[in-house]
Amino acid sequence: MSERRLVIALDGPSGAGKSTAGRALAERLGYTFIDTGAMYRALALKALRARVAVDDGEALAALLVGTRIELSDAGRNVALDGEDVSAAIRTREVSDAASRVAAHRAVRRAMVARQQQMGRAGGVVMDGRDIGTAVFPQADVKFYVLADPARRAERRHRELQAAGQVADLEAIEQDVRERDRRDSTRAESPLVRAHDAVDVDTTELGPEQVVDQMLALVHSRIATAPVR
Ligand code: DC
Repeated sequence: MSERRLVIALDGPSGAGKSTAGRALAERLGYTFIDTGAMYRALALKALRARVAVDDGEALAALLVGTRIELSDAGRNVALDGEDVSAAIRTREVSDAASRVAAHRAVRRAMVARQQQMGRAGGVVMDGRDIGTAVFPQADVKFYVLADPARRAERRHRELQAAGQVADLEAIEQDVRERDRRDSTRAESPLVRAHDAVDVDTTELGPEQVVDQMLALVHSRIATAPVR
């Protein structure tokens, strides 16, 4: 009997350590890691370049129709219409635009459909804001990853520095709080914790401890889940 390959949903605010933990979790399980934030970022980058207004949901949805977004190497590589944009989507400008782009119903509907298609066969760890609530409400395991905003800003700051970008910690903390506010107050699919999600607070945990905590739960679900 082959082992059941689960759908694992990872939601939570930006900078809580979701993608680091999700990638490591996927690697340990031999699953595919899907960073859905990168998809919104890629569309935002395309919109900025094409001068499509980030507050025009219909125009953005139309722009998305012919757009190819491919994730590879556990989400480290992101290709937009065949071009490697892995670094270009991580700037502050794109972060801000992505948060605006992601607020539109027409955009979300199309992105959610793509994500459902990508995760259909199971064996995925999917990272986002609405995975356990909208993309896969029936996910086998749901984690809600959180950490306090100051710690999240510190982590973002380190990431930007590592990518060679000059960044001011205070400005980043402001960005983090503003994006939290926008992501959790938007009318369409706001960031909310699924009622059946398990909280993982990473404020005081290192990446390995986070993954170990997650793996323990995943293994217990694999052991008890019926084969699909
Ligand atoms: O996870 P991230 O910071 O790369 O996400 C970029 C933006 O996209 C962020 O503002 C939240 C939004 N997003 C979303 O609304 N739904 C998702 N499933 C993933 C990201």
